[in-house]
Amino acid sequence: MTKKEQLYEGKAKKVFATENPELLIVSYKDDATAFNGLKKGTIHGKGVINNRMSNLLMRYLEKAGVPTHYVEELNDRETLVKRVSIVPLEVIVRNIAAGSFSKRYGVAEGVVFDTPTIEFSYKNDDLGDPLLNEYHALALKLATKEEIETIKKYAFTVNDRLKAFWAECGVTLVDFKLEFGRLSDGTIVLADEISPDTCRFWDSKTGEKLDKDRFRRDMGGVEDAYAEIMKRLTQHI
Ligand code: TMP
Repeated sequence: MTKKEQLYEGKAKKVFATENPELLIVSYKDDATAFNGLKKGTIHGKGVINNRMSNLLMRYLEKAGVPTHYVEELNDRETLVKRVSIVPLEVIVRNIAAGSFSKRYGVAEGVVFDTPTIEFSYKNDDLGDPLLNEYHALALKLATKEEIETIKKYAFTVNDRLKAFWAECGVTLVDFKLEFGRLSDGTIVLADEISPDTCRFWDSKTGEKLDKDRFRRDMGGVEDAYAEIMKRLTQHI
């Protein structure tokens, strides 16, 4: 598959056209941002880790009945994916209070929920990705009622599967963000990435953070944390 013109450059990835209009190539960068791009940096080797991890997890989820955009890993940083139009919702599932949930509701980080939560943000950098509910999403025509139901069903399946999977790796899946897309026939599939950039991973025994929070919070040991979480995955899969 030949890489053609660059269609888009995001904060962590670039997207290229291919000779097949239904397929794109995603290229993962080492660039890291936080707080809507206010904080910028580099996490050396992150692109390689996020590419591999996302692909391994998407293949695993496909087997569990969640359709994804994944087609084929091309090399260390590049993957062939199905072209989708992204549903402009950030879908966040949480098992344990952390991050913006803790801040917004005044709950200590680490409080375990009886059942997982789901929330949506409007994927819009100019507005700072504001939180919204399903009625807002319908009013803004971001997705249909049926699409939102499908997205919720897939998001909770992803949580069930990945929570169990990571537990076997000695890792607690605290929360994560998903994005979904529509194929040309309207089918909803899981898109974007699943990586330490988009998930909170805590060591099950020590509680050590093995994700991008080390970058967001200037904790140091960022590259080591990405390498460690990848090691846990590859030792297990
Ligand atoms: P939050 O607690 O900051 O809302 O983050 C919830 C989860 O979503 C966490 O696993 C990190 C992930 N996330 C992203 O993937 N992209 C983002 O822009 C933000 C703010 C969070």
